Amino acid sequence: MKIEFQPLHPTFVARAGKVDLRQVTESQLQQIRDAMDRYGVLIFNDQQFDFKEQLEFSTRLDGQLHSKTSSAAIAKNRFGNEALTDISNIGTDGQVLAANDRRRMNGIANRIWHADATFENPAGRYSLLYARSIPPVRADTEFADMRAAYDELDEQTRQEIAGYTVFHSIVYSRHVMGFDFSDEEKARLPGAIHPLVREFPETGRKSLYLASHAERIMELPVPEGRLVLRDLIEHATRERFLHSHEWRLNDLVIWDNRTTMHRARPFDDKRYKRELTRVTTLDLPRAQA
Ligand code: OGA
Ligand code: MN
Repeated sequence: MKIEFQPLHPTFVARAGKVDLRQVTESQLQQIRDAMDRYGVLIFNDQQFDFKEQLEFSTRLDGQLHSKTSSAAIAKNRFGNEALTDISNIGTDGQVLAANDRRRMNGIANRIWHADATFENPAGRYSLLYARSIPPVRADTEFADMRAAYDELDEQTRQEIAGYTVFHSIVYSRHVMGFDFSDEEKARLPGAIHPLVREFPETGRKSLYLASHAERIMELPVPEGRLVLRDLIEHATRERFLHSHEWRLNDLVIWDNRTTMHRARPFDDKRYKRELTRVTTLDLPRAQA
Protein backbone atom coordinates (compact mmCIF):
# COMPACT_ATOMS: atom_id res chain seq x y z
CA MET A 1 0.00 0.00 0.00
CA LYS A 2 1.22 3.43 -0.92
CA ILE A 3 1.42 6.03 1.86
CA GLU A 4 0.00 9.40 0.84
CA PHE A 5 1.85 12.57 1.83
CA GLN A 6 0.09 15.91 1.91
CA PRO A 7 2.40 18.98 1.94
CA LEU A 8 1.74 21.46 4.75
CA HIS A 9 4.12 24.24 3.67
CA PRO A 10 5.35 25.54 0.28
CA THR A 11 8.88 24.08 0.65
CA PHE A 12 8.85 21.34 3.33
CA VAL A 13 6.77 19.34 5.90
CA ALA A 14 4.06 16.84 4.97
CA ARG A 15 1.36 14.90 6.78
CA ALA A 16 1.18 11.18 6.08
CA GLY A 17 -2.11 9.44 5.38
CA LYS A 18 -3.44 6.66 7.58
CA VAL A 19 -0.80 4.06 8.40
CA ASP A 20 0.18 1.98 11.43
CA LEU A 21 3.95 2.39 11.68
CA ARG A 22 4.28 -0.80 13.73
CA GLN A 23 3.13 -2.78 10.70
CA VAL A 24 4.86 -1.12 7.74
CA THR A 25 6.42 -3.16 4.95
CA GLU A 26 9.96 -2.69 3.60
CA SER A 27 8.51 -0.91 0.60
CA GLN A 28 6.62 1.50 2.86
CA LEU A 29 9.80 2.15 4.87
CA GLN A 30 11.45 3.17 1.62
CA GLN A 31 8.50 5.44 0.79
CA ILE A 32 9.01 7.16 4.15
CA ARG A 33 12.77 7.61 3.52
CA ASP A 34 12.02 9.07 0.10
CA ALA A 35 9.42 11.39 1.61
CA MET A 36 11.98 12.45 4.26
CA ASP A 37 14.39 13.38 1.46
CA ARG A 38 11.68 15.43 -0.14
CA TYR A 39 9.95 17.07 2.85
CA GLY A 40 12.46 17.00 5.73
CA VAL A 41 9.63 16.75 8.31
CA LEU A 42 6.79 14.20 8.34
CA ILE A 43 3.77 14.11 10.64
CA PHE A 44 2.09 10.78 11.45
CA ASN A 45 -1.12 11.09 13.48
CA ASP A 46 -2.67 8.39 15.68
CA GLN A 47 0.31 6.12 16.28
CA GLN A 48 0.30 3.62 19.14
CA PHE A 49 3.86 3.07 20.29
CA ASP A 50 5.06 1.64 23.54
CA PHE A 51 8.74 2.37 24.26
CA LYS A 52 9.96 -0.80 22.60
CA GLU A 53 7.86 -0.25 19.49
CA GLN A 54 9.14 3.30 19.08
CA LEU A 55 12.73 2.04 19.31
CA GLU A 56 12.03 -0.82 16.92
CA PHE A 57 10.39 1.34 14.29
CA SER A 58 13.25 3.88 14.47
CA THR A 59 15.83 1.12 13.99
CA ARG A 60 13.93 -0.37 11.07
CA LEU A 61 13.64 3.02 9.42
CA ASP A 62 17.20 4.22 9.78
CA GLY A 63 19.60 1.87 11.56
CA GLN A 64 21.74 2.74 14.57
CA LEU A 65 20.50 4.95 17.42
CA HIS A 66 22.13 7.88 19.18
CA SER A 67 22.51 7.53 22.94
CA LYS A 68 25.15 10.11 24.00
CA THR A 69 22.59 12.80 24.81
CA SER A 70 22.96 15.73 27.19
CA SER A 71 20.18 14.31 29.38
CA ALA A 72 22.12 11.05 29.61
CA ALA A 73 25.11 13.04 30.87
CA ILE A 74 23.17 14.66 33.73
CA ALA A 75 20.68 12.06 34.97
CA LYS A 76 19.85 8.41 34.60
CA ASN A 77 17.16 7.82 32.02
CA ARG A 78 13.62 7.20 33.39
CA PHE A 79 13.08 4.40 30.88
CA GLY A 80 16.36 2.51 31.35
CA ASN A 81 17.44 3.04 27.72
CA GLU A 82 19.51 6.08 26.77
CA ALA A 83 18.40 5.80 23.14
CA LEU A 84 14.91 6.78 24.30
CA THR A 85 15.34 10.44 25.22
CA ASP A 86 12.89 11.80 27.74
CA ILE A 87 11.48 15.02 26.27
CA SER A 88 9.18 15.76 29.15
CA ASN A 89 8.86 18.02 32.14
CA ILE A 90 8.19 15.16 34.52
CA GLY A 91 10.45 13.69 37.21
CA THR A 92 10.72 10.12 38.47
CA ASP A 93 7.85 10.85 40.90
CA GLY A 94 5.52 11.64 37.99
CA GLN A 95 5.24 15.33 38.98
CA VAL A 96 6.28 18.38 36.96
CA LEU A 97 9.91 19.35 37.51
CA ALA A 98 10.65 22.27 39.83
CA ALA A 99 11.69 25.56 38.22
CA ASN A 100 15.37 25.16 39.12
CA ASP A 101 15.66 21.41 38.51
CA ARG A 102 18.73 20.78 36.36
CA ARG A 103 16.81 18.43 34.08
CA ARG A 104 14.27 21.18 33.42
CA MET A 105 16.93 23.80 32.78
CA ASN A 106 18.71 21.49 30.36
CA GLY A 107 15.40 20.63 28.68
CA ILE A 108 14.09 24.16 28.18
CA ALA A 109 17.22 24.94 26.17
CA ASN A 110 15.32 23.08 23.41
CA ARG A 111 13.54 26.42 23.00
CA ILE A 112 16.55 27.76 21.07
CA TRP A 113 16.93 26.87 17.37
CA HIS A 114 18.94 23.70 17.03
CA ALA A 115 19.30 20.34 15.34
CA ASP A 116 19.73 17.19 17.42
CA ALA A 117 23.10 15.65 18.20
CA THR A 118 25.13 17.98 15.97
CA PHE A 119 27.63 17.92 18.84
CA GLU A 120 28.32 14.24 18.22
CA ASN A 121 30.19 12.32 15.60
CA PRO A 122 28.41 10.62 13.95
CA ALA A 123 25.73 13.29 14.35
CA GLY A 124 21.99 12.73 14.42
CA ARG A 125 20.14 12.03 11.19
CA TYR A 126 16.44 11.48 11.88
CA SER A 127 14.68 12.34 15.12
CA LEU A 128 11.40 10.60 15.89
CA LEU A 129 9.40 12.40 18.55
CA TYR A 130 6.24 10.79 19.92
CA ALA A 131 3.57 12.53 22.01
CA ARG A 132 2.51 10.41 25.02
CA SER A 133 0.71 13.22 26.83
CA ILE A 134 0.17 16.81 25.84
CA PRO A 135 -0.87 19.89 27.82
CA PRO A 136 -4.26 21.59 27.36
CA VAL A 137 -2.44 24.62 25.93
CA ARG A 138 -0.40 25.01 22.73
CA ALA A 139 3.14 23.72 23.12
CA ASP A 140 4.24 23.54 19.51
CA THR A 141 7.47 22.46 17.93
CA GLU A 142 8.61 24.83 15.20
CA PHE A 143 10.74 23.82 12.22
CA ALA A 144 13.01 25.73 9.82
CA ASP A 145 13.79 24.58 6.28
CA MET A 146 17.57 24.81 5.96
CA ARG A 147 17.63 23.76 2.30
CA ALA A 148 15.24 26.55 1.30
CA ALA A 149 17.35 28.92 3.41
CA TYR A 150 20.51 27.79 1.60
CA ASP A 151 18.82 28.20 -1.79
CA GLU A 152 18.04 31.83 -1.00
CA LEU A 153 21.59 32.84 -0.06
CA ASP A 154 23.26 35.17 -2.51
CA GLU A 155 26.09 33.80 -4.63
CA GLN A 156 28.77 35.72 -2.76
CA THR A 157 27.71 34.28 0.59
CA ARG A 158 27.54 30.77 -0.85
CA GLN A 159 31.10 31.07 -2.12
CA GLU A 160 32.34 32.56 1.13
CA ILE A 161 30.95 29.78 3.31
CA ALA A 162 31.54 26.85 0.94
CA GLY A 163 34.59 25.38 2.67
CA TYR A 164 33.83 26.28 6.28
CA THR A 165 33.69 23.71 9.04
CA VAL A 166 31.97 24.32 12.37
CA PHE A 167 32.70 23.10 15.88
CA HIS A 168 29.44 22.10 17.64
CA SER A 169 29.31 21.77 21.41
CA ILE A 170 26.34 21.42 23.74
CA VAL A 171 28.59 22.54 26.59
CA TYR A 172 28.88 25.85 24.70
CA SER A 173 25.17 26.25 23.82
CA ARG A 174 24.05 25.49 27.38
CA HIS A 175 26.74 27.80 28.81
CA VAL A 176 25.39 30.66 26.67
CA MET A 177 22.03 29.97 28.35
CA GLY A 178 23.60 30.17 31.81
CA PHE A 179 23.56 26.40 32.36
CA ASP A 180 26.85 24.69 33.09
CA PHE A 181 27.76 21.03 33.09
CA SER A 182 30.15 19.64 35.71
CA ASP A 183 33.66 18.62 34.57
CA GLU A 184 32.59 15.00 34.64
CA GLU A 185 29.54 15.70 32.48
CA LYS A 186 31.64 17.79 30.10
CA ALA A 187 34.00 14.89 29.57
CA ARG A 188 31.04 12.96 28.12
CA LEU A 189 30.16 15.81 25.73
CA PRO A 190 33.39 16.72 23.88
CA GLY A 191 31.76 18.23 20.75
CA ALA A 192 32.29 17.58 17.03
CA ILE A 193 33.26 19.32 13.79
CA HIS A 194 30.98 19.27 10.73
CA PRO A 195 30.80 21.14 7.42
CA LEU A 196 28.64 24.28 7.45
CA VAL A 197 27.13 23.42 4.09
CA ARG A 198 26.02 19.86 3.49
CA GLU A 199 25.36 18.36 0.13
CA PHE A 200 23.07 15.41 -0.55
CA PRO A 201 23.74 13.32 -3.64
CA GLU A 202 20.34 11.60 -3.36
CA THR A 203 18.48 14.89 -3.88
CA GLY A 204 21.20 17.05 -5.47
CA ARG A 205 20.40 19.70 -2.86
CA LYS A 206 22.47 21.62 -0.33
CA SER A 207 21.61 22.66 3.19
CA LEU A 208 22.91 24.96 5.88
CA TYR A 209 23.96 22.82 8.84
CA LEU A 210 23.52 24.98 11.92
CA ALA A 211 22.34 24.80 15.50
CA SER A 212 22.58 26.65 18.80
CA HIS A 213 25.46 24.23 19.42
CA ALA A 214 27.52 25.84 16.61
CA GLU A 215 30.34 27.41 18.61
CA ARG A 216 32.88 28.54 16.04
CA ILE A 217 33.89 28.39 12.43
CA MET A 218 37.26 26.67 12.45
CA GLU A 219 38.64 28.72 9.52
CA LEU A 220 37.88 32.13 11.05
CA PRO A 221 38.83 34.06 14.20
CA VAL A 222 36.24 33.19 16.85
CA PRO A 223 34.28 36.51 16.96
CA GLU A 224 34.19 36.79 13.18
CA GLY A 225 32.91 33.23 12.82
CA ARG A 226 30.30 33.80 15.50
CA LEU A 227 28.93 36.76 13.58
CA VAL A 228 28.70 34.69 10.41
CA LEU A 229 26.87 31.93 12.31
CA ARG A 230 24.52 34.40 13.93
CA ASP A 231 23.63 36.04 10.59
CA LEU A 232 23.02 32.67 8.95
CA ILE A 233 20.71 31.52 11.75
CA GLU A 234 18.85 34.82 11.55
CA HIS A 235 18.44 34.36 7.80
CA ALA A 236 17.38 30.70 8.07
CA THR A 237 14.69 31.40 10.67
CA ARG A 238 12.81 34.04 8.69
CA GLU A 239 9.07 33.50 8.70
CA ARG A 240 8.84 32.04 5.20
CA PHE A 241 11.17 29.15 6.10
CA LEU A 242 9.16 28.14 9.19
CA HIS A 243 6.39 25.72 10.03
CA SER A 244 4.89 25.21 13.49
CA HIS A 245 3.54 21.82 14.50
CA GLU A 246 0.59 21.83 16.88
CA TRP A 247 0.76 18.52 18.75
CA ARG A 248 -2.06 16.05 19.01
CA LEU A 249 -1.90 13.11 21.37
CA ASN A 250 -0.17 10.12 19.73
CA ASP A 251 1.48 12.13 16.96
CA LEU A 252 4.83 10.88 15.74
CA VAL A 253 6.88 13.59 14.05
CA ILE A 254 10.03 12.64 12.17
CA TRP A 255 12.52 15.29 11.07
CA ASP A 256 15.83 15.23 9.27
CA ASN A 257 18.42 17.02 11.41
CA ARG A 258 20.66 17.49 8.37
CA THR A 259 18.15 19.66 6.51
CA THR A 260 16.04 21.29 9.23
CA MET A 261 16.39 23.05 12.58
CA HIS A 262 13.71 23.07 15.25
CA ARG A 263 12.80 24.58 18.58
CA ALA A 264 10.21 24.01 21.30
CA ARG A 265 7.76 26.87 21.83
CA PRO A 266 7.27 28.01 25.40
CA PHE A 267 4.24 27.04 27.49
CA ASP A 268 3.45 26.98 31.21
CA ASP A 269 5.60 23.94 31.90
CA LYS A 270 5.57 24.46 35.67
CA ARG A 271 1.82 23.86 35.61
CA TYR A 272 1.03 21.41 32.78
CA LYS A 273 2.57 18.06 31.99
CA ARG A 274 3.95 17.39 28.53
CA GLU A 275 5.49 14.00 27.89
CA LEU A 276 7.20 13.00 24.69
CA THR A 277 9.88 10.46 23.89
CA ARG A 278 12.48 10.93 21.20
CA VAL A 279 14.69 8.54 19.32
CA THR A 280 17.47 9.95 17.14
CA THR A 281 19.26 7.85 14.56
CA LEU A 282 22.93 8.20 13.66
CA ASP A 283 24.05 9.85 10.44
CA LEU A 284 25.93 6.78 9.18
CA PRO A 285 26.05 5.57 5.57
CA ARG A 286 22.95 3.50 4.89
CA ALA A 287 23.28 -0.23 4.55
CA GLN A 288 22.60 -1.18 0.93
CA ALA A 289 19.11 -2.61 0.58
C1 OGA B 1 13.63 17.41 20.68
C2 OGA B 1 13.17 18.81 20.79
C3 OGA B 1 11.19 20.16 20.94
C4 OGA B 1 9.90 20.10 21.67
O1 OGA B 1 12.86 16.50 21.05
O2 OGA B 1 14.73 17.21 20.17
O3 OGA B 1 13.93 19.71 20.57
O4 OGA B 1 8.97 20.84 21.26
N1 OGA B 1 11.89 18.95 21.10
O5 OGA B 1 9.81 19.36 22.64
MN1 MN C 1 15.80 18.85 19.63
